Amino acid sequence: MSTATITTTSTLTTASKLGYETFSIGKFTFERDEYFAHIIYPGNRHIMPIEAFLRALMRDIAWGFFYGTVNFDNVFGTINHYGTVEMYIGLNNFAYRNSHREYVETFQSKELKKVFEAILADWTNEGFDPFAAPEETGAAYGPKHGDNLKAIRRERLAAKRMVGLPGDLKIRTEADGLPINRQFADVPQEAPELHPEPGFESEVHAVDLFGYLSRSDVTWNPSVVSVVHDSLLCPTTEEHILPIIHGNDRVEWFIQFSDEIIWDIEDKVTGGPVCKVTMKAGDVAAMPADIRHRGYSPKRSMLLVWENNDGTLPGRHASGELPAYPVTF
Ligand code: PHB
Ligand code: FE
Repeated sequence: MSTATITTTSTLTTASKLGYETFSIGKFTFERDEYFAHIIYPGNRHIMPIEAFLRALMRDIAWGFFYGTVNFDNVFGTINHYGTVEMYIGLNNFAYRNSHREYVETFQSKELKKVFEAILADWTNEGFDPFAAPEETGAAYGPKHGDNLKAIRRERLAAKRMVGLPGDLKIRTEADGLPINRQFADVPQEAPELHPEPGFESEVHAVDLFGYLSRSDVTWNPSVVSVVHDSLLCPTTEEHILPIIHGNDRVEWFIQFSDEIIWDIEDKVTGGPVCKVTMKAGDVAAMPADIRHRGYSPKRSMLLVWENNDGTLPGRHASGELPAYPVTF
């Protein structure tokens, strides 16, 4: 290639030729081309592979910005302040911070959610499901073709009290179009036996959680199956990579129900490596309040995420009132 003239194509032109809309909020602009999401902010541009961006965006929207930090990668992400949300470049990246290249803006959560939803709807092509495992979905690439509103607007599943109770989240069945996942073909499907004492029939309840999870059609999407005050049991089925790197603002507990997940644990702010945790079926781990983590699930697996929904926790960890670790041995 001759170096005398360098032709540059404006991404804006490229994006509109491909049929994708460009979106702006504050001083951030989002563009997509066939392969990449471009995040343009004062002074520079950040690029992410489009499928990774859409998978992360799907979770950030579905979880209402989640607890604490949702890093889409090592550079871009959001921090939930429960009403407002910070969107940043480089805030949790040692090199960006060290050279003062970080950029942050605060938005009303509702406003940012609207823009994120519009990006996801416009940029998700027919055949690509950002919630599905890579083996179970088509590609995200190419010029705009169709959409997949059905996949991205799945109803959010959250039990009021417990799955399977009258008037609460329904258990999953074949009849409702929820087949057993290909990798959970060996999961027994028997309903549990209940033998309540006479008079206590309406106070005892049980479901087969393994059977319930074996019929999940999404990955990396903890959803509430039981609620006791602030205690939320959020099991999920995992395959491939957690699409975000989650920065905790409280302690979370994990119980590995089946198979295996390998976790990279890093310092929440610098991204420096802390440890690797390999969780095999039956293992229990507490993820501290000062870390971020990303899981790798080589086979579809079942994980229980136990969340504490107490809204005072982030402030109490940040002030030092509560230690980052829930137990000391
Ligand atoms: C987490 O960040 O703790 C997390 C998120 C999604 C999952 C599992 C764990 O599917
Ligand atoms: Fe987490």
